[in-house]
Amino acid sequence: MKTQVAIVGAGPSGLLLGQLLAKSGIANIVIEQRSGDYVLGRIRAGVLEQTTVDLLREAGVASRMDAEGLPHDGVELCFGGQRHRIDLHGLTGKQVMVYGQTEVTRDLMAARTAAGLPTVYEADEVAVHGFDSAHPSVTYLKDGVRHEVQADFIAGCDGFHGVCRASVPAGAITQHEKVYPFGWLGVLADVPPVSDELIYVHHDRGFALCSQRSKVRSRYYVQCSLDDKVEHWSDDAFWNELRARLPADTAANLVTGPSIEKSIAPLRSFVAEPLRFGRLMLVGDAGHIVPPTGAKGLNLAASDVGYLWQALQGFYAGRAGEIDHYSQRALARIWKAERFSWWMTSLMHRFPENGTFGHKMQIAEMEYLFSSRAAMTALAENYVGLPLVST
Ligand code: FAD
Ligand code: DHB
Repeated sequence: MKTQVAIVGAGPSGLLLGQLLAKSGIANIVIEQRSGDYVLGRIRAGVLEQTTVDLLREAGVASRMDAEGLPHDGVELCFGGQRHRIDLHGLTGKQVMVYGQTEVTRDLMAARTAAGLPTVYEADEVAVHGFDSAHPSVTYLKDGVRHEVQADFIAGCDGFHGVCRASVPAGAITQHEKVYPFGWLGVLADVPPVSDELIYVHHDRGFALCSQRSKVRSRYYVQCSLDDKVEHWSDDAFWNELRARLPADTAANLVTGPSIEKSIAPLRSFVAEPLRFGRLMLVGDAGHIVPPTGAKGLNLAASDVGYLWQALQGFYAGRAGEIDHYSQRALARIWKAERFSWWMTSLMHRFPENGTFGHKMQIAEMEYLFSSRAAMTALAENYVGLPLVST
């Protein structure tokens, strides 16, 4: 089979890229190693920046998000048992949208099916070839039969553990990484959120986050040890730990219920440079990871898609050089989001290995933050998302 862009991975970056390319008349196929249900079963991001919302609208997949998503004007940080609100809208004029990654993916899958665009799920032994030439290809096995897709470009949208980045010769790529000494234990439950807005909590027992998916579905996280196992956390143990990290009046409002999902995620900062290798481009988690504290991972994946869509539109409109800018444009925004996510992670978590000095620095930074409109504006600007610049 021949196409223009072969997209590896049907996560949010692969599906959004496919939809935008199709809108521009650029043929594409999505090749995914898992089933559609498996992809939808992964509970991940919950907060969308305005740029992500705009791209979803441009892709024509925003009607349910616009009807059911919850625009938020602010976010809270809790320190020393005190809740402080950051007025995102007042400080930046922008909002964020609470709408789950699962729902974004579901909407993208439905639009792809409705448009009759080709998608291969449960593809085995996916491999990328010839991306240092003008004729790259992707091969895979489906039901035991080998297939080959010849394309002009390969978009590596296959996440952190995918095959695309792993196929780049070691000498052509530089990888920057920081692994954090803890994880996040997350619970999803059909209970009303403890508060209208998200609350990020710094506590001596460890970080906690009160998030939500809707007025009747909540998502909560607690910082946990890297050795923790999900099986060792009963629902009761989770709710008790969360309650212990919240201020008493907030804990008193917490509605608990059976978990419908419970998982542990490790925290990592990672960037691969560059993001383009001839005719192969890395997009989203395939090229970079942020710790989840600033809610940036899915949003960065979306901004990569925005840059690559622009580059490929340029290429097919006769401006071949547009492709040369993809890596540098995307990385300029990625590094700023990496900085913000690292900073929020460093501020909000418990790092016993940093001693009392490290703890005092966190307190001083928090006190400064809440005393300074400039510092709160800096946080707000980053949280709502930096603009997509194309120079
Ligand atoms: P993925 O979602 O990882 O998709 C990659 C796809 O490629 C997968 O479907 C995978 O099966 C497929 N694949 C892998 N290997 C192959 C192969 N060899 N061949 C074919 N297909 C392959 N981000 C935010 O912006 N806001 C948040 O609030 C937020 N919260 C998070 C909370 C948690 C607990 C976690 C874990 C992440 C969170 N993120 C958040 C990050 C966000 O979920 C990711 O950044 C996002 O999923 C990246 O999308 P992607 O499409 O690039 O990669
Ligand atoms: C969620 C996850 C995050 O990492 C974050 O910063 C905010 C919200 C969530 O899953 O809802």
